[in-house]
Amino acid sequence: MAAPSTNTILHLLLLTLIYILHHSKSFASNQSYFPVTDFGARLDGRNDATEAFLNAWKATCQSDKPSILYAPPGLYSVGTLIFNGPCRTSKIGFRIDGTLRAFSDYTAFQQGTWILFNNVNGLSIYGGGSLDGQGEAFWACKGKYNNNTGCPEGVKTLSIGRSSNVKLTGLKSFNSKFFHIFVWASNNIVVEDLYLVAPENSPNTDGIHVQQSSDIIIRKSFIKTGDDCISIGPGTYNVLVESIYCGPGHGISIGSLGQYEEEPGVRNVTVKTVDFYNTMNGVRIKTWGRPSNGYVSNVVFRDITMSNVTNPIIIDQNYCPWQQGCPHQNSGIKISKVIFSNIRGSSANEVGIKFECSPSQPCRAIQLKNVKLTYNQNPAMISCRYVFGNSSGLNFMSACMH
Ligand SMILES: *[C@@H]1O[C@H](CO)[C@@H](O)[C@H](O)[C@H]1NC(C)=O
Ligand SMILES: *[C@@H]1O[C@H](CO)[C@@H](O)[C@H](O)[C@H]1NC(C)=O
Ligand SMILES: *[C@@H]1O[C@H](CO)[C@@H](O)[C@H](O)[C@H]1NC(C)=O
Ligand SMILES: *[C@@H]1O[C@H](CO)[C@@H](O)[C@H](O)[C@H]1NC(C)=O
Ligand SMILES: *[C@@H]1O[C@H](CO)[C@@H](O)[C@H](O)[C@H]1NC(C)=O
Repeated sequence: MAAPSTNTILHLLLLTLIYILHHSKSFASNQSYFPVTDFGARLDGRNDATEAFLNAWKATCQSDKPSILYAPPGLYSVGTLIFNGPCRTSKIGFRIDGTLRAFSDYTAFQQGTWILFNNVNGLSIYGGGSLDGQGEAFWACKGKYNNNTGCPEGVKTLSIGRSSNVKLTGLKSFNSKFFHIFVWASNNIVVEDLYLVAPENSPNTDGIHVQQSSDIIIRKSFIKTGDDCISIGPGTYNVLVESIYCGPGHGISIGSLGQYEEEPGVRNVTVKTVDFYNTMNGVRIKTWGRPSNGYVSNVVFRDITMSNVTNPIIIDQNYCPWQQGCPHQNSGIKISKVIFSNIRGSSANEVGIKFECSPSQPCRAIQLKNVKLTYNQNPAMISCRYVFGNSSGLNFMSACMH
């Protein structure tokens, strides 16, 4: 066979080159980058870069092309960043390759948040960088007063409000003053590959809290924190939580619900393939012990392992922090159609499953399937109040559900 001519090889090389150039050009021309360094942010964290970020956001959001607000590798010292939409395209990016460090002074923030995306449709927040919340001073305030009035409102690290089609992926968040990630009044949100860390004893440093939102996917994340790893608040539906490592922390919770009399419910939530390690709770539904018209229904918790978890499976309808406004009242939240399936591992408490439902609104259609929990190598126990449902495949005798 004849060897290909030099001409043919050159021709192929040329075609390849044209192909690469064409695609890199189309890539470049499709997206505009707005690096915060072009707007005055220094890479060494020595100036207050708040204005630089806000101005870079304006340019990004007002651009006609898909645009990316970019924080290159480096350290940025920043206060409240409120990124308002709507933007001119639905292809907005926030790429963080550096570290954003919040001011330590917790009185220096507005609207209870550090970084807020408000009213943005079509947003991708990504990169290998991190958010350093510098929560220590605020936790010290909380520790000193130990009640709900002594300190200002906590500052959430990253909030997404009134937004849709948002993807948040790959970021690390450390030492949040309050919640790490807060999603409210939003829909079509994907959160994945996050690494959220705060000390076990840091107050209210929830990993991800979602409320009044729908079509939410939270997956493949590693969460070690001082409060709930993930919590799902009122008015939330169509939620999938999967492949999460949680611990230490207070577990994955639906709640708190029922603080208010008029409250939207929570429905269609699936939590699966989660590993809990040394957490206070595993899977939990938590409601205030006071009147409310809210509800929880169609929830599945499945394929879960527990390692030394204090309350692996718990429904608690008697939440009443600081014993204010609720003692001796019953929760009005109606809990029904909840399945706990294929849950295994060890409880740090002899009662592995605890259902404390409301005397006036008992839990209904609760199912336990293949739940095998141990306490000190022995089968754990179950305790039930005001719960209707059934069980199969347990490693202990249970006659406690009606
Ligand atoms: C750039 O836009 C063109 C035309 O809209 C599209 O065909 C191409 O796939 C886009 N490239 C990238 C990298 O998004
Ligand atoms: C909270 O703690 C502070 C300081 O100990 C005290 O002055 C204040 O009255 C407390 N508030 C309540 C509601 O207990
Ligand atoms: C329940 O939520 C999932 C997302 O987790 C969604 O795919 C499904 O369609 C929802 N089911 C109903 C009945 O809305
Ligand atoms: C199990 O959990 C308890 C209570 O949280 C804790 O005190 C204990 O150290 C844990 N044990 C192990 C082996 O981690
Ligand atoms: C268990 O309860 C569920 C939900 O109420 C019901 O659909 C199912 O038929 C029950 N199973 C048994 C064996 O009673």
